[in-house]
Amino acid sequence: MNKEILSDSYSVFFKKNGFDNLSNHLRNKNYSKIFIHVDNNTKQYCLDLFLKKIHISNYDLIESCDGEENKNIESCLKLWQTISDKGGDRNSLIINLGGGVVSDMGGFIASTYKRGINYINVPTTLLSMVDASVGGKTGIDFGTLKNQIGTFYDPKMVVIDPEFLNTLEKNEISSGYAEIFKHSLIYDSTAYNKLINNDKPLYNLKTIYSSILTKNKIVLIDKKERKERKSLNYGHTLGHAIESYFLNSDNKLLHGEAVSIGIVLASFLSNKLFNFSIEHVNSIKNHINYVYKKIEINDDQINSIIDLLIHDKKNSHGKINFILLKDIAKPVYDVQVKTEFIKESFKYYLS
Ligand SMILES: NC(=O)c1ccc[n+]([C@@H]2O[C@H](COP(=O)([O-])OP(=O)(O)OC[C@H]3O[C@@H](n4cnc5c(N)ncnc54)[C@H](O)[C@@H]3O)[C@@H](O)[C@H]2O)c1
Ligand SMILES: [Zn+2]
Repeated sequence: MNKEILSDSYSVFFKKNGFDNLSNHLRNKNYSKIFIHVDNNTKQYCLDLFLKKIHISNYDLIESCDGEENKNIESCLKLWQTISDKGGDRNSLIINLGGGVVSDMGGFIASTYKRGINYINVPTTLLSMVDASVGGKTGIDFGTLKNQIGTFYDPKMVVIDPEFLNTLEKNEISSGYAEIFKHSLIYDSTAYNKLINNDKPLYNLKTIYSSILTKNKIVLIDKKERKERKSLNYGHTLGHAIESYFLNSDNKLLHGEAVSIGIVLASFLSNKLFNFSIEHVNSIKNHINYVYKKIEINDDQINSIIDLLIHDKKNSHGKINFILLKDIAKPVYDVQVKTEFIKESFKYYLS
């Protein structure tokens, strides 16, 4: 595929065309140092494949430990230290080869090292291809607060190749798919119609392409998340609370798995408050139940999840705002919802 997606200061390229552009970029820019940032898994599963695809003679590897629990300042300190020890200067480049943890953290260290050096994202998970690697948000967690410290700082380029997904666990694929489905719901009824009747995640190149296109369009309208970019949080208000609730249980959920439940709940609430068609709501629930294992959530757990939601927001002195839908591709922003409706939405998901 030669069609690239243009963002404000960079492009998203695909497959061979992407690696050709990356190779040209490296040749033309004449970077003083190239750092390839991997985690333990992408070092094992993605690095050789990546090096086969680009022409790069000289690079240094910087490595972080995989997983959200390592997306923190301690990991950044180690990365900055290695870059500094190896003589990284203002004209150095970081290539993030990995999932959203690698690109969020690698983007963050790039944005701060020497007041900002260039970085490029080569995402290796479905989630990072369609979501994390695009849009210029970088960051790390702070204690239990996700993405609390960060910057808006665009990459120089993003290169997408679904071949990396061959080694990714199936549940990670499904997790990333939740964001593809979300993008279709908030912005793209054509994509929605393609996805909704499948009983498994659709994630071919075309689907990935149109999903990135959607995210990019929304970011271009509202980079700093004043209004339209908030729609990317569809399903995430309750999704995050569900994710946090199950974090320390035997039933730990991946981000997209929790968000998929949040999508069903938000769709139910959209019907309740904005007359979003019940046929859509039922189709969405059926689709999610095909793609994801149904999670049993009892009354006590529902109450705890709602407490978490309220508690989190109290801590941030904010209100609990939902993104809901009037129709496919017609989001409504900053909606406040009664607790009683939230409980009903769980009953609907569980029914
Ligand atoms: N910046 C943004 O706009 C944005 C948007 C969405 C999500 N995010 C962030 O993204 C992160 C989640 O990203 P993720 O889902 O990619 O998780 P991840 O980076 O933790 O990757 C998931 C797991 O897959 C492994 N892995 C990665 N690629 C692989 C491959 N090709 N083969 C085998 N294993 C592989 C990783 O080592 C890790 O264990 C979160 O921290 C979230 O906050 C950021
Ligand atoms: Zn998400």
